[in-house]
Amino acid sequence: MRIKKKEAIAKLDKITAIVLKRGFFWPTAEIYGGKAGFYSYGHLGKAMKQKFEQLWRSHFFSNCKNYYEIEPSSILPEQVFIASGHLEHFNDPLIECKTCHFRFRADQFIEDNLKIKAEELTTEEMSNLIRKNKLKCPKCNSWHLSEVKWFNMMFPITLGAAGVKDLAHLTPETAQASYLAFKREFEATRKKLPLGIAIIGKAFRNEISPRQLFFRLREFTQAELQIFFDPDEINKLEKEEWKEISKYRLIMLPQKEKKVKEISCEETNKKLKLPKLYVKNMVLVQKFYLEKLKIPKNMFRFRELSEKEKAFYNKIHWDIELNLETIGGFKEVAGIHYRTDHDLLGHEKHSKQNLHVFWNNKKFIPHVLELSFGVDRNIWALMDLFYKEEKERTLFSFPLTVSPIDIAVFPLVNRESMPEKAKEVYNLLKQDFSCFYDETDSIGRRYRRQDEIGTPYCITIDNQTSKDNSVTIRELNSMEQKRVKIGTLLVELKNLK
Ligand code: GAP
Repeated sequence: MRIKKKEAIAKLDKITAIVLKRGFFWPTAEIYGGKAGFYSYGHLGKAMKQKFEQLWRSHFFSNCKNYYEIEPSSILPEQVFIASGHLEHFNDPLIECKTCHFRFRADQFIEDNLKIKAEELTTEEMSNLIRKNKLKCPKCNSWHLSEVKWFNMMFPITLGAAGVKDLAHLTPETAQASYLAFKREFEATRKKLPLGIAIIGKAFRNEISPRQLFFRLREFTQAELQIFFDPDEINKLEKEEWKEISKYRLIMLPQKEKKVKEISCEETNKKLKLPKLYVKNMVLVQKFYLEKLKIPKNMFRFRELSEKEKAFYNKIHWDIELNLETIGGFKEVAGIHYRTDHDLLGHEKHSKQNLHVFWNNKKFIPHVLELSFGVDRNIWALMDLFYKEEKERTLFSFPLTVSPIDIAVFPLVNRESMPEKAKEVYNLLKQDFSCFYDETDSIGRRYRRQDEIGTPYCITIDNQTSKDNSVTIRELNSMEQKRVKIGTLLVELKNLK
């Protein structure tokens, strides 16, 4: 059920208050008033982000023998972006107020004012709509607005003291560095396809109007996996592998449909004409969200992008969207992109290096299937989806896979040797879990503090502990407690992982 705008704003304010107060994240350079589009992670946010990234690695690398992670530079020479097409095509529509010189994004301006989708329009169509509807500057109310023109979203920089000659850019996507690494990695990993190259790293985009917290940042983290493969094999999978997934149902919103449908992989391949390799990766992505991140099914969907919406390098492009009340409904958090040989071909042409491979008895440029995730958007999505208000507490009902802290350990009271015993338990667990020890305030308050940051388990040492060496484990959502002997505690907790 959709909540009203007022309630959504209230929810956003409440979550923001918790994340600021408890150390998840805050605006960068906050003491100087912050800077739009930049956020910094505090200790809890960093712990959660690290867990998300680790989960992503283990999930997407699990069944694939020839996948590797690399760590490249984030500043790349301009030639890279001439070859990739970013210098020419990576643009957003900009408009300027001729009276107060405020500059803003034209498509968002039209969408906010006229409630129509403007992403697919040309600059001329946007200018005409703005004129026809007599839209005014959102800052000073003037009618004197410029024509809409394209604005390149990369951050250009000059290297060293050479002046304008040595141009480079902060990378707007991690993907390009994987294409630059392809030849080296292919040779170093015994020249086999498919080859997966993953990067979890920073991306930089000079967004005209950064907004909606983690949704339009100027510096953000991407987790991207580029799968290089033989294009003749895009619709071929091992028989067993296909049999295993062919009945699995994907949650899909194709372009021609108005409603989300559950469609089997078999149908997706036959009716929607999505190649088997693409479908296999959709299954992997859906399982990541539903099984690992525990996202409710009705909050998840794949959405097919129209020809005009697709990124300039994509032949097939479906986004992964989650239904986020604080951001206004279903929003993109990741994408599956069939980029063909667009990037390697461009780099071969501009670098004059041979990027062909010899595989399956032929020479060719591999094609690329890209799984692209915005880590920060996913972190905010988890906060939105797992935030709950109950009569006596607010909580993030995070699964253990992403909660910033796994376990909190408390002595019931601060006497009768309970703190000593609790510290023993804390030391026992901290090798295998991220643990937090707390002995201040009443036990009720300590539980509430952990609920508020989404700690799945709290362990309490009480009077009974000195008698039979047992403790209680309290579960976040149900608040149910069970008694466990300290001797079996580690095994019990590992089973919950
Ligand atoms: N390599 C492909 C690529 O970069 P994209 O759709 O532009 O594709 C991928 O970005 C993901 O990165 C998005 O699905 C989103 O989660 C995240 N992302 C993109 N722009 C962002 C921004 N300005 N702020 C935060 N996250 C962003």
